[in-house]
Amino acid sequence: KKVAILVSGGGSNMLTLCSSMMDDHPARPVLVLSNDPSAKGLKYAAARGLSVASVDHRKFGKDRAAFEAELVKHLESVEPDIICLAGFMRVLTAGFVERYAGRMLNIHPSLLPKYKGLNTHARALEAGDAEAGCSVHVVTPELDDGPILGQARVTIEPGETASSLAAKVLKQEHRLYPAVLRRFAEGEQGVLELT
Ligand code: GRF
Repeated sequence: KKVAILVSGGGSNMLTLCSSMMDDHPARPVLVLSNDPSAKGLKYAAARGLSVASVDHRKFGKDRAAFEAELVKHLESVEPDIICLAGFMRVLTAGFVERYAGRMLNIHPSLLPKYKGLNTHARALEAGDAEAGCSVHVVTPELDDGPILGQARVTIEPGETASSLAAKVLKQEHRLYPAVLRRFAEGEQGVLELT
């Protein structure tokens, strides 16, 4: 299975996904694509010999469809079987999502369905939650709303801050996403719960 990974920033999830796709793995990374030409993830990916590309979303103003048409050009050049959004920070239109319906995954730093959208850690702290975590889900047109494929939980300790929680959750993201991608690539059903 060919996997394209979309990033916007440092790409730590992309790097751990790529490291997980070794020899006996049913999937392999064929492209790392960013909306930001300066995204550090592109540099790290290129340094590992991965194919990289970028489409600067700022060039397209509010024309999401035109931006996405460029993304599609790059994606169609590698014809991915699976797309992984990994720290990708652009909202995708229903048109783009439908094109990859059922084979585009995203990792979100909350225990969905709680805290869709941004600032998930601050919101969990604000709510006084005892735990937080991350979720991998199938992407559907509704933001952060598709079927959940896996979750990992962390406890919220006294004195926890949004940044300390973000760091704990990111570590779990790096465990969860590779595990879910392998199962997904092998066609396994069910929800993976990591403790
Ligand atoms: C992190 O906040 C992570 O929780 C979320 O995207 C952001 C950057 O991740 N998934 P990455 O290091 O670019 O993978």
